[in-house]
Amino acid sequence: MIPTIRRAAAYLTLAVTLVGAASISSASAAGVETLSTGAAPAAAAQNGIVVAQAGAPARRVSFTAEQADRGAKNYKRDCEECHGKDLRGGMNGGAPLRGLAFEGKYFGGLPASVLFGYMSSAMPPNSPGRYSPDTYADLMAYVLKWNGIQPGAPLPSDFDKLDELVVEK
Ligand code: HEC
Repeated sequence: MIPTIRRAAAYLTLAVTLVGAASISSASAAGVETLSTGAAPAAAAQNGIVVAQAGAPARRVSFTAEQADRGAKNYKRDCEECHGKDLRGGMNGGAPLRGLAFEGKYFGGLPASVLFGYMSSAMPPNSPGRYSPDTYADLMAYVLKWNGIQPGAPLPSDFDKLDELVVEK
């Protein structure tokens, strides 16, 4: 619903700008004094920004049950000793991976790439980045599941796609 409305608004803005540009050029052709040269590219650039913003993240992050199951196995083996069975953390200085403080950092509509980026570049501390992107996506699916995110479409493991998803319950 929301993405459709946003997209429609973007197209509307685009249409209005195009109509505006057309009337400027026809006015110039008619010899009427109008905007200085350079105004049209500026308007186009502005319009580009409007479209980019309007098409910005809107789809909620999700994952498949299979991803979360695979993540559970890796988590148990490589993360649990510090972050705990229930993800509340506390062992060996491991931070909680659920709860208000955690949500404050990674939820609230932030792109999914933020959490993925942290995990895949900093965890586990003794060999950060040691897994494949798919394995990090599995681990993230498991963490999201514990945080009350609903399963659905697969969680991607590619930054560009993760950028388009928002982390929200
Ligand atoms: C040796 C202990 C240890 C292990 C093993 C470990 N972590 Fe961590 N993890 C930490 C510590 C300590 C922090 C906090 C780091 C900081 O704040 O700089 C952390 C932070 C995190 C965070 C960010 C939490 C926040 O509040 O920002 C995530 C997500 C995370 N770990 C996921 C994982 C995953 C997934 C694994 C398994 C692949 C893993 N960790 C393995 C110790 C560990």
